[in-house]
Amino acid sequence: MTVTKDRARKSQTKSQTIESQTSAGRASGALRILVVHGPNLNLLGKREPELYGSQTLADIDADLTAAAKELCVEVESVQSNHEGELIDRIQEAMGHADGILINPGGFTHSSIALRDALVATGLPVVEIHLSNVYARESFRRLSYVSPIAIGVISGLGAQGYRFGLEALVKRLNG
Ligand code: DQA
Repeated sequence: MTVTKDRARKSQTKSQTIESQTSAGRASGALRILVVHGPNLNLLGKREPELYGSQTLADIDADLTAAAKELCVEVESVQSNHEGELIDRIQEAMGHADGILINPGGFTHSSIALRDALVATGLPVVEIHLSNVYARESFRRLSYVSPIAIGVISGLGAQGYRFGLEALVKRLNG
C-alpha cells in the first residue's frame, strides 16, 4: 500500500507502508520501522552516481519492501528536503514505530535539532550513508547522529539499507 500524505507545507514526503503477512517480534503485531531519507536523496540515480550509485530512491524502498516481507516487519518510508518536516515525522514515530533507519543526508553534519528529535523518540536508530563519509571531505566526518545511533553503515551503497534494517530488527527481537 502506498500512501502520500498532504501536509500544510509543500514537501516531497512520501510514505509507503509495507504490511507483513505474519506477526513477529511482539504479541501485539509486527515490528514497525520508520525509514527516513533526508535532503537530496530524492535525486538518487541522477545525483553524482559515481558516489551514490545508479539506484533510485524508489529502487531502495522497493528493496526495503522485499526485506521487510522476509523479516515479517512493517516499514514506512519518508523523504523530505525540509528539516522541520523530517523532525515532525520523527516525532510522529513516538508510540507508532519500534525503530528508525535514517540516512540524514547533509543534515547529518549540521542538524542538532534532528538528533534531538531522534533522541526524544527513545527509539533505536541505525544511521545509513551510501558513500563512505570518512573517505570524503573532512566536514563529512562529523555526524551529530552517530553518537546516538546503535550503529552506522557507511560506504556500502544501497545494500547498506538492507543490512541496516536486518541489524535493527535483530536488535529489536533481542
Ligand atoms: C550521504 C552523505 C552525506 O554527506 C551527503 O550530504 C548526502 C548523502 C550518503 O548517503 O552518503 O546527502 O548521507
